Amino acid sequence: MKSIEQIRSDFPILNRLVNNKPLIYFDNGATSQTPNQVINTIVNYYTQLNANIHRGVHTLSQESTDAYEQAREKLRKHFNAKKSCEIIFTSGTTESINLVANGYTSLLKSGDEIIVSASEHHSNIVPWQFVCERTGATLKVIPMNEQGIWNMESFDNLLTFSTKLVCVQHVSNALGNIHPIAEIIEKAHQRGAKVLVDGAQSAPHIQPDVQSLDVDFYAVSAHKMYGPTGVGILYGKEELLNAIPPYQGGGEMIKEVRFEGSTYADLPYKFEAGTPNICGGIAFGAAIDYIHELGIENIAKHEQALLRYAVEKLKELEDIQLYGNPDLSKRTAVISFNFRGIHPYDVGSILDKLGIAVRTGHHCTQPIMDFFCIPGTIRVSFAVYNTFEEIDTFVEALKKAHMMLS
Ligand code: ALA
Repeated sequence: MKSIEQIRSDFPILNRLVNNKPLIYFDNGATSQTPNQVINTIVNYYTQLNANIHRGVHTLSQESTDAYEQAREKLRKHFNAKKSCEIIFTSGTTESINLVANGYTSLLKSGDEIIVSASEHHSNIVPWQFVCERTGATLKVIPMNEQGIWNMESFDNLLTFSTKLVCVQHVSNALGNIHPIAEIIEKAHQRGAKVLVDGAQSAPHIQPDVQSLDVDFYAVSAHKMYGPTGVGILYGKEELLNAIPPYQGGGEMIKEVRFEGSTYADLPYKFEAGTPNICGGIAFGAAIDYIHELGIENIAKHEQALLRYAVEKLKELEDIQLYGNPDLSKRTAVISFNFRGIHPYDVGSILDKLGIAVRTGHHCTQPIMDFFCIPGTIRVSFAVYNTFEEIDTFVEALKKAHMMLS
């Protein structure tokens, strides 16, 4: 594994000042920073390869097509899908989920049931509400406790032969809790339900293996995995992707178009209408290479050490309220907290003045905030380039913020 100094030197943005202070970037759950290896791939794309894919006989088109399809193959390998046609490029996790939801709109009917959890991101709630409104299906919710842990007994009771889909996150973006998705998948399959997993917050930290999980659909975003924004993938089992109708109509997704009717391309192109984010897809491949260069276990080990160090330090602060599973081995490196009686935005604004980027607010998980009866939290989320010294600076900044605001 590279040293922390070597890793940090891969990320040029870490050298910048924010409000005249060295940047401390603790908002990786929202977007991770981008290493030179990915930035150089983007520059190379626009200086050497830029052309539309799958369309031209000319050299640039063929080279960019090759690079794009090689990236798809890297992603297939990384997620251990059986076939590369099971990897659909999308604009990110949200589009991946909407693609499946749109498809199931034509497969579900009144009386069918969809299960989500109480800690889902809005992007894994609202698309299923659309499906229910349009089909008459019912949405059910796995409850959670004060630590954000799902009640698996309730899940057992919610699961019936009417359950067609279980759509859950692997890791909570707001709390960092790692959920027992292997158990969820096994139980859902026993009832004949399919499972979609929102892997946006797990894929950067946990080696995913879609075949050993036997998951039906798995959605991720590149920009939380050291890749660019605006690109992600949907993994889906081939037979299930074949069973759902196309998501969007346009070029690339067709076999033949006549005014009397059109036929559709095979997977994965059936779901890739229009010119895709070609550069983004290729750069996502470079981000996967970067993760492999460091080793995802090494990344996770470093982040886990940061998590433990930070939680111990935060626990010592006055008036602090920490959220999430206290068993840190069941958490990724996310810490959500508040100072009692102080609004999270106020703390976030002071931290920003000190060059420290955290996320404040409901984190697109309003049901969690309603559960705790709070407007939001302060969330720090670590990545491989963060350091123990940054945590020390952050804790001192928090003490200052607390003093100013109480
Ligand atoms: N879903 C992203 C987050 O948790 C944006 O911050």
